[in-house]
Amino acid sequence: MNKSKTIIVSNRLPVKITFNSGQIAYQNSEGGLATGLGSIYRTGNNIWIGWPGAIIEDDMLKEQVSVDLKEKSLFPVFLSDEEINKYYEGFSNETLWPLFHYFPSYARYSEENWESYKAVNQKFADIVLANLKNGDQVWIHDYQLMLVPQMIRSKMQDVSIGFFLHIPFPSFEVFRLLPWRAELIKGVIGADLIGFHTFDDSKYFINSCQRILGLTSINNQLYVNDLPVIVDAFPISIDYVKYNELASNKVLKQHEDNIIRRKGEAKLMISVDRLDYSKGLINRLKAFDQLLSQFPKYKEKVVFVQLVVPSRDTVKQYSELKEEVDRLVSDINARYGTLNWQPIQYFYRSFSIELLSALYKTADIALVTPMRDGMNLVSKEYVASKIDKKGVLVLSEMAGASRELNDAIIINPNDQISYVNALVQALEMPDEEQLRRMTAMQEIVARFNIFHWVKVFMQRLEDAKTLQRRLSVR
Ligand code: ADP
Ligand code: G6P
Repeated sequence: MNKSKTIIVSNRLPVKITFNSGQIAYQNSEGGLATGLGSIYRTGNNIWIGWPGAIIEDDMLKEQVSVDLKEKSLFPVFLSDEEINKYYEGFSNETLWPLFHYFPSYARYSEENWESYKAVNQKFADIVLANLKNGDQVWIHDYQLMLVPQMIRSKMQDVSIGFFLHIPFPSFEVFRLLPWRAELIKGVIGADLIGFHTFDDSKYFINSCQRILGLTSINNQLYVNDLPVIVDAFPISIDYVKYNELASNKVLKQHEDNIIRRKGEAKLMISVDRLDYSKGLINRLKAFDQLLSQFPKYKEKVVFVQLVVPSRDTVKQYSELKEEVDRLVSDINARYGTLNWQPIQYFYRSFSIELLSALYKTADIALVTPMRDGMNLVSKEYVASKIDKKGVLVLSEMAGASRELNDAIIINPNDQISYVNALVQALEMPDEEQLRRMTAMQEIVARFNIFHWVKVFMQRLEDAKTLQRRLSVR
């Protein structure tokens, strides 16, 4: 029997190609989307369609990659140098990303990049259509592919289509700045179910549909051609058990011992992010600088380990940010460091999950303080790794995660005075209070985990389709 399947579609596949002395190798991709869905896509005869993370021109190599990936149920979409330049770096990351993260002054509006975005979205849609059968479900992810839902709908009227946006959806006053605002939301409403991380994001989306397209809505239903499209909040999460069990695993012992030996008696503060201006790296370094200047008693008593994974480094704002972070880190280390103590240990590379886990487990404090973030999974990974339930999370109110993890110390990263006070509060928090707050946060992350997220989204997609079918035969 030919069973139905779910087709996951995202710009990036959960694995990326690297070339190791001319040989093809496959590595896990970083970023919330890939790590979030990476835990669950290998069930039934589901497949995942996306870009394998490298530009490949040679046809024989493309063939080899397709064969290798097919074994993992992954289907590559090959992108040329020009497509990466205009669709990925250009429209996705120099227009949509900054605008949706409330950095409108970083956004560039280029007709050429928009044309490429449309063409590449069509390329993805064509590969989906070539693999799509009646009864299948399609689940499209993120801002790089906002036109794909309608491109599929126009060819297969009755197929079930879900769309999930992993980044914030901005308020109408920001979204309206886009010259192609109407086309983008017309693309998204080709889906039957549209998901966001927070209730505010879903409200802003409905508002833009009303104001730009004149659609009507009742509660969380938008009426498109007289049929309801459901718009709702589905906060993404992590594989809690995986992180919790990893932290109990003895193989980490050596990593932990190393970390503990290096920090000595000092408290360990960590941050883990992609290099991105939305992550608040500069504000964080400035707050740490102020902590040391305002409270000299913390000198030699705290070590800040900052892990930064390289990201989108061909985009101007990202390479400029890298230079600024490098400069600030060495400036702080030079001003406060002693022969026995380096205040910031800064790493600019990807880390294995084992090393990340050991860091989460041993860190007294985690700083997750983005200027704006759809959800932020690092905050949840930290909580899941604290098997002794001790540790403090300092979390920005601008991260979607702050709606669920309200036992963290919540800060506004623009408010430097409160930020420094929060660092002091974290450094001084009594064990019982840490225990109480961490227990409450763990209950939430354990319960509303990634499997729950997938289950609820897929169930709602089925319900949305059933409702539409019922209404359309009336
Ligand atoms: P975003 O999706 O914007 O990158 P998230 O916090 O939601 O932010 O997800 C980031 C993911 O990337 C997390 O799963 C985190 O563990 C992983 N990650 C971040 N920095 C590193 C690093 N230096 N090495 C390995 N993985 C990393
Ligand atoms: C965020 C986005 C993802 C993206 C990831 C990494 O999580 O929501 O769509 O894959 O960042 O960024 P990159 O540009 O390297 O794919």
